[in-house]
This record gives sequence, C-alpha cells and structure tokens, in this order.
Amino acid sequence: MKALQIMAISGSLRNNSSNTNILKAIAGLAPENVVIHLYEGLDKLPHFNPDVDEKNGYVADFRNKIDSADGVIISTPEYAFGIPGVLKNALDWIVSTGELNEKPAAAISASPLNTGGENALTSLLLTLTALGTIRNKFSSLAIPNIKSKLDASGTIIDNQLAESLNKLLENLLDLIEVKQS
Ligand code: FNR
Repeated sequence: MKALQIMAISGSLRNNSSNTNILKAIAGLAPENVVIHLYEGLDKLPHFNPDVDEKNGYVADFRNKIDSADGVIISTPEYAFGIPGVLKNALDWIVSTGELNEKPAAAISASPLNTGGENALTSLLLTLTALGTIRNKFSSLAIPNIKSKLDASGTIIDNQLAESLNKLLENLLDLIEVKQS
C-alpha cells in the first residue's frame, strides 16, 4: 500500500523554533504508512503578486508539493496577534491555483504566552477556510506556555501535549481516509 504523504509547514523561520519542533515531533508519532515532510522553502518564496504568478520555480515547487500531499499540517507562531507574513505570503500563492481546495488539514499555534497564540490560530483557520481545506472541530490546537513543554533540544517533555498532537494527527488521518474512501 502506498504511504500517505503529509506536508508540514512551520510559520517560523527561527533556528530551534518551537513550532518547527512540534512538527518534527508529530513526524515522530506518525504510523508506518504515513510520511510527514517538513517544507523548508518558506523564506525562498517571492512576495506574492498576482501579476507575476507561477513563473518562479520556488512557487511551482511549493504548489506541486501541496498538490501531491494527501494532507497538510501547519504550525504557526503569533506575531502581533497575527500569523507571520512569510506564512500568509505562502498561502496567498495558492489562492488562485487551489492546491489546498478539499485537502484535509490541521492547524496548530504555539506560543510562550498563556494565550497559546489563539489570535494567530483564528486567523490561520479563516485563511484555511478561504482556501477550501477539509477540517472538523478536532483539526486545530492552540498550545500555550510552549517553552515549558519542550526541552532545550526541542523534544516534547509534556505528556499531555504529546497526547494532543497524537489525537490531532489521528483526526487528520481519519479525514484523509474518509476523503479517499
Ligand atoms: C512575538 N511573540 C508573540 N507571542 C504571542 O503569543 N502573541 C504575539 O502577539 C506575539 N508577538 C510577537 C511579535 C514579535 C515581533 C516577536 C519576535 C515575538 C512571541 C512568539 O510567540 C515567540 O517568539 C515564539 O517562540 C515564536 O515561535 P517559534 O519561533 O519558537 O516557533
């Protein structure tokens, strides 16, 4: 049986980003028939401009990777109550071409604050709705106080968080199974 392909996108460009580490942790939780690829080109994408469209190779690569994935997981920090510009920029590149339309998706925000980056999560979910993703009420997770839940190397040290991430992944896999059945 062909392995399911999930594309993971971190909204943070930082080294040792907690959001990137969360996605790496989810990749470690994936069952044998699921491969989770971390997209690493967010900072290579040009500024979105509908006049330019798809002549850029990084844009074409980003669109192809999303198109060929069975599902996507996005984990974002919150900057000034919103999602980082690089993440919104990337998502704007796929509005007209529709690679996320009817694609099962999960969304996470992680913050050192006790709000869990819920403003960024709300904003991300609005954009994912505009893009036509398939989600349900178990498809999103705001993670507060993230610094106390990861060790210095980025490994999860909070069992409850590990369990929540596992549930989020299981739910995403269920949505993919329903779509493909
Ligand atoms: C932040 N941070 C932040 N956190 C938050 O919960 N709400 C916010 O509005 C902001 N705003 C904000 C602005 C700027 C300019 C910076 C640099 C930071 C803190 C942010 O959540 C923190 O840096 C996270 O650790 C970033 O996530 P990564 O990079 O660890 O994944």
